Amino acid sequence: MFSNLKYPIIQAPMAGGIATVDLALAVSQNGGLGFLAAGYKTPEAIEQEIIKCKEAALPFGVNIFVPQNDSLDESLYLYKERLEEDFQIPLTIPKPDDDYWTEKLELVKTYKVPYVSFTFGCPTNEIIEQIKENGSYVIVTVTNLEEAKIAVQQGADAICLQGIEAGGHRATFQNVDEESYVPLMEFISTVRKEMAVPIIAAGGIINGKDIHLALNAGADVVQLGTAFLCTEESGANPVYKQALQSGEFTETALTRTFSGRLARGLKNEFMVKYESIAPAIYPAVNTLTQPIRAKALKDQNPQAMSLWASTRFKEIQSGTVKEIFDRLIKELELCRSSCI
Ligand SMILES: Cc1cc2nc3c(=O)[nH]c(=O)nc-3n(C[C@H](O)[C@H](O)[C@H](O)COP(=O)(O)O)c2cc1C
Repeated sequence: MFSNLKYPIIQAPMAGGIATVDLALAVSQNGGLGFLAAGYKTPEAIEQEIIKCKEAALPFGVNIFVPQNDSLDESLYLYKERLEEDFQIPLTIPKPDDDYWTEKLELVKTYKVPYVSFTFGCPTNEIIEQIKENGSYVIVTVTNLEEAKIAVQQGADAICLQGIEAGGHRATFQNVDEESYVPLMEFISTVRKEMAVPIIAAGGIINGKDIHLALNAGADVVQLGTAFLCTEESGANPVYKQALQSGEFTETALTRTFSGRLARGLKNEFMVKYESIAPAIYPAVNTLTQPIRAKALKDQNPQAMSLWASTRFKEIQSGTVKEIFDRLIKELELCRSSCI
């Protein structure tokens, strides 16, 4: 199903307003595969985006979060009190939330979305089969060999291997999963040795040489997120784009402080200050910290915003998607003719 793509490059679904329709369509127009991110959006909002992509008559995908609700405990209330005291903003303990799971599944079926990917878990075989029978190609994101096997058993057409270098949230099936810290290249080789399923490689891929190495290691396609963050078509806000390229931030780290789920982003003051007390409770912590992040954006303060990025963020280039794509393809072709 990836053989119809001119180039083996997927644009990562990026929630939080980053994966705009413009970004997804520009990637598909340039011969890759653009993805919309349904996570955190209302069904109405993602439906409008799907309609626009359908009208463009280009291949595209939609990514959906598999719902989970870690149970709340005392640590969440303590975290709330501490953040309220430090930021002087009233915060709310949220109710359970499935991110409109049923409605989003219905939408991808109604519009026969060509590619549907899942993150934070594996849907049941029944759900996967229904979507496949409807004509979609189903991808499940995995972070270790065990999850890869489960995804294939449940009927996924392809698996997206997320290496530890990846920007954004860890896609682990369980919120807390220490078996999932696998570097991408090692992960590709391990899975390829054991399984014949189509592999998408994701995590810290930023240039044509990385793409070449991932394909050589056994991936069928690669998925890039951070590489597209500073494109003109990306919906990343200017404070975020500036933080990625200003040199003010020198490293990334994994953190639970913003959402309660492990995610990789630029290491800022919020992460350093609250890491030791942030509860592993998703999505409650994500909803809890939302007003703090919104205020930080208003104040143009990157030190209290979640600035998701891969370990390779220092190599981000800005420009149009076409410019980024042309560069990636040129580097890839150069590597194919000269790299080992
Ligand atoms: C800003 C940002 C938002 C992300 N949002 C999503 C998402 O909504 N769904 C998803 O499956 N992955 C999401 N991810 C993770 C990426 O899909 C991912 O692991 C990836 O393809 C590798 O990204 P990288 O090139 O940034 O390392 C996000 C990553 C970033 C950087």
